[in-house]
Amino acid sequence: MVQITINKDKCVACGKCVGICPADIFCKGEKGEILLQKEEACIGCGHCVSVCPHDAITHSLFPADKQQSFSYDDYPAPESLMTLIKARRSNRAMTKKPIPEEMLKMIVEAAYLAPTATNSQNLEFTLITDIDKIRKVTSFTISTFYKIRKMLANKVVAPVTKLLMPKAFAMVPMLDRLKAEFEKGNDKVMRNATAMLIISSPKGDRFGAENANLSYQNASLMAESLGVAQFYTGFVLTATRLNKGALEKELGIKGTICAGMALGMPQFKYVKYPIRKDIDFTQI
Ligand SMILES: Cc1cc2nc3c(=O)[nH]c(=O)nc-3n(C[C@H](O)[C@H](O)[C@H](O)COP(=O)(O)O)c2cc1C
Repeated sequence: MVQITINKDKCVACGKCVGICPADIFCKGEKGEILLQKEEACIGCGHCVSVCPHDAITHSLFPADKQQSFSYDDYPAPESLMTLIKARRSNRAMTKKPIPEEMLKMIVEAAYLAPTATNSQNLEFTLITDIDKIRKVTSFTISTFYKIRKMLANKVVAPVTKLLMPKAFAMVPMLDRLKAEFEKGNDKVMRNATAMLIISSPKGDRFGAENANLSYQNASLMAESLGVAQFYTGFVLTATRLNKGALEKELGIKGTICAGMALGMPQFKYVKYPIRKDIDFTQI
């Protein structure tokens, strides 16, 4: 169990910890002093330690030397952040040049630092930089889809699937092209990615998909700001759902793959971004 203490000499009872704690571990006593209650409910977010202006709280998960001071002045200006958000693209034109190790580390760190439900921090990150393994991911994806394609286009059932599943049926020519291109050495699934970040969560985790997708988005913005090309590997993800557990087994991943990102150095950079439709949102 976590251990939290309040240093009475330092505490000025400002109540910031009371207001910030999501688990209501801090409360005010009759004389306005700060008290602790049900510490076992702590989710380990560390907000109490970070918000205390007088270093009055000690927390076994957040020792003083693991606290980093920062200044809001160091944040990117909102306009800069908005430019990054607007200009971020899925860039599929990648060179064979490897991504510098420090950049990969920053991308994985950004992925890791995304919020998780109840602060579970239980995502598993698998960074693949072995090109043969990336090819295996494509191979797995294409062969999984091809099994479905064979079923859809089976002479006996085709008229029925065409009628009942027109969208799936319409994918048949695309899957044929994908397979033919791969056999010619053109990987249209992972493109020329030199790295892949797979984000997985423990089997059956209620928020696995949400956690993984937030993590992907953190990583994609970091990649963009580093000048690294990336895209979401949705095709691979769909294959993992059609053939449950198979890719995880092949790659030695314990949990369930919930998101993935192809990464590479860009062949070229964009010079514009599209101005999207005006936002039509509801405020109630
Ligand atoms: C859930 C999801 C799955 C995606 N799957 C793929 C994919 O398998 N391959 C690919 O090249 N792009 C994929 N993308 C990228 C989208 O096509 C892309 O985000 C969209 O066209 C908008 O372009 P932008 O990211 O440049 O703004 C996926 C995106 C999302 C959000």
